[in-house]
Amino acid sequence: MAVAEASAKRDGARTPWRLVITLTLVVAGAVVSLVLVAAGAESGNVNAKADQWQISYWKKPIPAQGRAPENYLKPARGLLPENCGACHAAQYEDWKQSIHSKAMGPGVAGQFLTMEFSGQAACLKCHAPMTEQWGGLRSDDGQWRANSAFNAQLQSRGMVCSACHLRGHKRHGPPLPPGKTPVSQAVHGEPFRTEFFRASEFCKGCHQHPASSMIINGKTVENTYREWLDTPYPSQGKSCQSCHMPGGRHLWKGIHDPGMTRAGVSIFTSLSNEQPKVGEEIEARLTLTNTGTGHAFPTYPTPAVYLKAAFLDKVGAVVPGNFHKEKIIQRSLDMSVYPWGEKFDTRVLPGESVSLNFRRRVPAAAASLYLWVWVEPDNFYTGFYRSFLKRGKDFPGAEQLSQALQNSLDSQYLLFSRTVPIEQPVGRGYH
Ligand code: HEC
Ligand code: HEC
Ligand code: HEC
Ligand code: HEC
Ligand code: HEC
Repeated sequence: MAVAEASAKRDGARTPWRLVITLTLVVAGAVVSLVLVAAGAESGNVNAKADQWQISYWKKPIPAQGRAPENYLKPARGLLPENCGACHAAQYEDWKQSIHSKAMGPGVAGQFLTMEFSGQAACLKCHAPMTEQWGGLRSDDGQWRANSAFNAQLQSRGMVCSACHLRGHKRHGPPLPPGKTPVSQAVHGEPFRTEFFRASEFCKGCHQHPASSMIINGKTVENTYREWLDTPYPSQGKSCQSCHMPGGRHLWKGIHDPGMTRAGVSIFTSLSNEQPKVGEEIEARLTLTNTGTGHAFPTYPTPAVYLKAAFLDKVGAVVPGNFHKEKIIQRSLDMSVYPWGEKFDTRVLPGESVSLNFRRRVPAAAASLYLWVWVEPDNFYTGFYRSFLKRGKDFPGAEQLSQALQNSLDSQYLLFSRTVPIEQPVGRGYH
């Protein structure tokens, strides 16, 4: 019940009609109402045909490809990204730099060493979804057994070309650009070309948890597709691919890329006094607006973004005392209970803003006022790996998870900064 009310509050704030529907449904029971609210929220912008198609396309695991047809050219018979890269060099060079190519990195592989086949399968559905990438499969009798088609090398490559483009060795892809004649049939058969490759529904299977999964404060844990539906982007024809695969590029840049994140937000500062002096009171404001991110900024509960303000001394250290302030942008989950709780959700929806207000008397030690935005793309994982590593160095996976911890720290970056010099009182110089 509490869950349904919370969802009514959140959705109702923006679209009153949804509030009415939700309140009527609360009597019918929390679970039923949530399902219907979800369906109601999706009607209109959902590409229903693409959604039907993606459900059958993304059967997981993706059925084994079987033997490659004899008439295919030799390099086109293999499933590894390098096979495709031999001819599709542009996509391959992009993909290699992308996070999809690192989906079986040390953070996942390290945890796998302590997991049964059934547990691994729950992760492989998104991280390496082809049958050939699964060490074990579930037999008809419900038992998990070693998979004779398993290819460990293919598994280690994560979200490979073949997972998105091959079904029974048949190529699937977007429509040909106008005026271009197909030539691929001589190489690996005529591809099945469909508009669905340009629909957001194509990405939904791995970037949106189903409505039947855990609902926390009215929202699934991964809720990107539904967040996108609630923005103006679907009606402008802007899909996930428009922003994440511009010009067909295979880079899928996101919050790990400072340039991409900068393009998704606008940051402004304002000061009550542009030339602050020691002893004066000053009010500074740092505002971040979601102007170009097609979902909540950020969409997952894993990153954290901080708005920060501080007085720095002449060596650049924060002046001790109450001379700094910060605000966190994150959806923070409480995983110590089941179902999980939500500690807070301060993420910024498209068109919305968040501000940090900093009002202080300028301390004598201040050489500058510093305003900045700090991004930790893997904030949740840093804490998770640290607590896992407390089990000791000899614990299976400890080596990979130490590497994953280091990677999560290396991914942090400065998104924005502004330094405002403080006018020094006469007679106090640096000479
Ligand atoms: C021996 C060269 C070769 C290899 C290897 C190869 N392809 Fe192709 N592929 C082609 C050619 C040539 C085309 C046609 C391209 C064009 O018309 O611009 C094509 C077309 C395609 C298309 C459809 C694009 C269109 O024409 O609409 C997809 C998708 C595709 N390949 C995926 C793959 C994947 C995935 C792999 C690896 C599993 C792969 N290919 C391996 C040569 C190759
Ligand atoms: C996460 C899924 C995904 C993966 C992984 C992926 N692709 Fe694609 N690919 C797409 C989508 C979606 C499009 C359509 C993009 C568009 O037109 O907006 C596409 C388009 C293409 C095309 C059509 C030509 C074009 O640029 O429009 C080719 C060829 C292709 N991909 C090859 C590859 C190769 C080779 C790899 C691996 C190195 C790969 N893809 C990995 C999803 C994927
Ligand atoms: C519904 C799809 C989905 C499932 C199922 C899933 N993941 Fe992920 N995972 C993602 C996405 C999307 C990201 C990237 C976003 C993020 O960083 O949270 C990710 C990121 C990660 C990362 C951090 C990045 C990295 O590679 O180090 C780890 C670790 C991870 N997942 C482990 C797991 C494990 C273990 C399981 C199974 C218990 C699992 N995932 C199940 C979609 C999924
Ligand atoms: C079969 C599952 C699957 C599909 C389909 C899929 N992804 Fe992903 N995606 C993942 C996983 C898993 C990760 C995280 C990998 C990791 O960090 O370990 C990821 C990561 C990403 C990221 C990384 C962002 C960042 O910086 O953290 C972006 C952006 C992304 N995907 C966009 C897309 C788009 C757009 C599509 C549709 C064209 C798509 N994905 C389709 C599984 C998938
Ligand atoms: C209008 C452009 C736009 C659209 C549309 C869009 N995104 Fe994004 N996306 C961004 C920007 C900018 C970022 C980087 C800032 C951030 O992380 O929120 C991002 C970040 C991400 C991330 C990184 C993880 C995170 O926590 O933010 C993932 C995954 C992702 N998008 C997936 C998707 C999927 C799936 C869709 C379609 C349902 C989609 N995006 C639609 C612009 C867009």
